[in-house]
Amino acid sequence: MNVLVVKANNRPADEGVSSKMYETFMEAIKGAENLNVTTYDVFAEDTPYFGQDLFHAFGKLKNGEELTDLEQRLLNAKQKAMDAVTAADVVVFAFPLWNLTIPAKLQTFIEYVYTAGFAFKYDAEGNMIQLMTDKKAIFLNARGGIYSTPEAAPMEMAVNYMRNVFGGVFGMEIIDEVVIEGHNAMPNKAEEIIQEGLKRVKEAATKLVNQVTLV
Ligand SMILES: Cc1cc2nc3c(=O)[nH]c(=O)nc-3n(C[C@H](O)[C@H](O)[C@H](O)COP(=O)(O)O)c2cc1C
Repeated sequence: MNVLVVKANNRPADEGVSSKMYETFMEAIKGAENLNVTTYDVFAEDTPYFGQDLFHAFGKLKNGEELTDLEQRLLNAKQKAMDAVTAADVVVFAFPLWNLTIPAKLQTFIEYVYTAGFAFKYDAEGNMIQLMTDKKAIFLNARGGIYSTPEAAPMEMAVNYMRNVFGGVFGMEIIDEVVIEGHNAMPNKAEEIIQEGLKRVKEAATKLVNQVTLV
């Protein structure tokens, strides 16, 4: 089974809680047989912003025109992200809630892969068809405040967004979600909250390893 781990935080693991979740997950799956693990680090990759430069590059490519360096970088980056997702049976995302949403670098990764004919399509009646129903996803997320209450949940646009994109539009089955929350809101309980959450990360990793062993 091919596992792609998308690391979406470049804070060191002793500072960023979602970085620690990433590290914990990687440690827990280390050495698992039959599990082919690849990491895509959204902060380490060369990922220029998605926009008109890329659209322009598509047009030039079609007409056989010469590309600028930026256009070539964009095409390469988009292809690399798409290839990484194509090769994966399971995609694991480790990401923080920053400013109520995901980091911009993760947003750029999503924009590269959120492509009609690749992730979804429309049928003749105009219905949206998910094209990644054979893939699974795992979300590892940390957020300093509390968003699991009915009042605060609509403000949360990180896990919610990821669910909508990878579950709702792409059709991946979300097999696990570990959310650590409230450690900034309740500093006196922070250590306990984080340790309990990291335990759940290990359990999610073990579950994945065991699923693979059973296949
Ligand atoms: C740039 C930045 C923005 C943040 N914005 C929010 C926020 O909008 N709401 C919140 O509850 N916590 C916020 N936090 C706290 C993080 O959610 C918290 O640190 C959590 O552990 C996830 O980020 P981390 O993995 O980098 O630690 C923010 C932290 C940073 C560094």
